[in-house]
Amino acid sequence: MIPRIYIPGDSGALALGAEKVAKAIAKELADRGIEAKIVRNGSRGAYFLEPMVEVATANGRVAYGPVKPSDVKSLFDCGFLTGGHHKRWLGAPDKIPFLAKQTRLTFARCGINDPLSLDAYKSLGGLKGLQNAVAMAPADIVKQVTESGLRGRGGAGFPTGIKWKTVLDTAGDRKYIVCNADEGDSATFADRMIMEGDPFVLIEGMAIAGIATGATKGFVYIRSEYPHAVATMNRAVEVARKAGVLGVNVLGSPNVFDMEIRVGAGAYVCGEETSLLNSLEGKRGVVRAKPPLPAIQGLFGKPTVINNVISLASVPIIMDKGAAFYKDYGMGRSRGTIPIQIAGNVKHGGLFEAAFGMTLGEIVDDIGGGTASGRPVKAVQVGGPLGAYFPRALFDTPFDYEAFAAKDGLIGHAGITVFDDTADMLKQARFAMEFCAIESCGKCTPCRIGSTRGVETIDRLAAGIEPEKNLALVTDLCNTMKFGSLCALGGFTPYPVISSITHFPEDFKPAPTRVAAE
Ligand SMILES: Cc1cc2nc3c(=O)[nH]c(=O)nc-3n(C[C@H](O)[C@H](O)[C@H](O)COP(=O)(O)O)c2cc1C
Ligand code: SF4
Repeated sequence: MIPRIYIPGDSGALALGAEKVAKAIAKELADRGIEAKIVRNGSRGAYFLEPMVEVATANGRVAYGPVKPSDVKSLFDCGFLTGGHHKRWLGAPDKIPFLAKQTRLTFARCGINDPLSLDAYKSLGGLKGLQNAVAMAPADIVKQVTESGLRGRGGAGFPTGIKWKTVLDTAGDRKYIVCNADEGDSATFADRMIMEGDPFVLIEGMAIAGIATGATKGFVYIRSEYPHAVATMNRAVEVARKAGVLGVNVLGSPNVFDMEIRVGAGAYVCGEETSLLNSLEGKRGVVRAKPPLPAIQGLFGKPTVINNVISLASVPIIMDKGAAFYKDYGMGRSRGTIPIQIAGNVKHGGLFEAAFGMTLGEIVDDIGGGTASGRPVKAVQVGGPLGAYFPRALFDTPFDYEAFAAKDGLIGHAGITVFDDTADMLKQARFAMEFCAIESCGKCTPCRIGSTRGVETIDRLAAGIEPEKNLALVTDLCNTMKFGSLCALGGFTPYPVISSITHFPEDFKPAPTRVAAE
């Protein structure tokens, strides 16, 4: 049998040199006259080990990483094609602790095979959920998704089944499924990873959503910063269409569903669902007032399901294994698994899918391995740029929507950014206001003006000008933004600011030399 070598084509792995490694391996094969097949798989998400090269041996896959082009010659010398030992040897990929400790439901296939091979997708259980769905009544599909307890993974955690039911129950000559792949939060890459590493699971999830709600057309709105994901999704849609997964007879059934990929233009606020709909319609990405809900009047005024990539990609396993199977994982009202994205100043950065309920401390210290700098962890921002900063004292908070809300935080899209003790929380608070000022769509005053006033007030604090008065002013401003903003961009910017002030008050003490020293 011809040896098979797996080298990720995932953009995270490419950024770490996977293309150079692939070229070096191809050259070495040619120089040595060895015939082998190079497969460009997605990433399994252990980015601290990327580029992670795998070989298929008689005893299963063997991984090596992180591989540098300069390692390639010695890898061949060590007999890596048959799993030989080398300083980069990692053993069986599914035994690598970072991967072995995960519960992979949504990401079960991600990074294993060629993402564009539908046969490989089917060989690992793909399309079973859709096969079940085409034989069911729409209301029964919606019921199953509702009973699974799946909540939106884009940030708000709204129950997916309830959203689908509204669209199913709303009359419309045309309905749409819109997939939100804008993924603008800092430290997040789960959407990108699945689109690049297992695109068919998203296509399958969208087709199920279409059949469940009566929508015949889907759009995936992908941020322009993800060219690899755009290319993979476009090709995967073509493959799916040719194979009859999409089109006028989905899997040979009378159901119609087709989809297109659309590319955003680089605005954080276009991840907000109504702003995204405006952008898809070719308008400026400004937030729409609700009601009407997009489920009633969404894209082009038609009933529309708008869901995050991970919400939709979690549906196939629910439709395959059943609501009870999925619901069995998790805690409280947070059911199933969540792909936690560990980033920032951390030793073991990557994607870790686990049932809800792990504590923040377990994620940062045990899984993440603490900081990359080796210094103590000072703060962890959870949920992107609008998420709160958690100090070590709150590390016992379990990963659960309600538990985080109870600590004035949010899970958001489950990205966590780790900071060591050199972080200046006043600067982080200023950054939150500055980010909001830059990204604000401008529709409402508390966000548009408040964020700019926030930057100015924090600058006065940093300069030691009337500290007590300015601290009170920032707090007051945060309350105005929190309760007076139309959407969560202005409404949640206070979270990183207030959490910094609450948990790290020492960084906000008068320090007249702070500005002068910089
Ligand atoms: C400023 C802002 C940015 C957002 N960005 C995203 C995003 O990039 N991706 C996403 O899925 N949801 C984002 N959301 C949440 C969406 O508005 C919406 O809740 C989500 O797409 C619904 O899908 P879900 O129920 O599957 O989570 C954002 C919200 C706000 C206020
Ligand atoms: S809060 Fe900000 S982003 Fe949201 S609608 Fe108002 S101005 Fe626009």
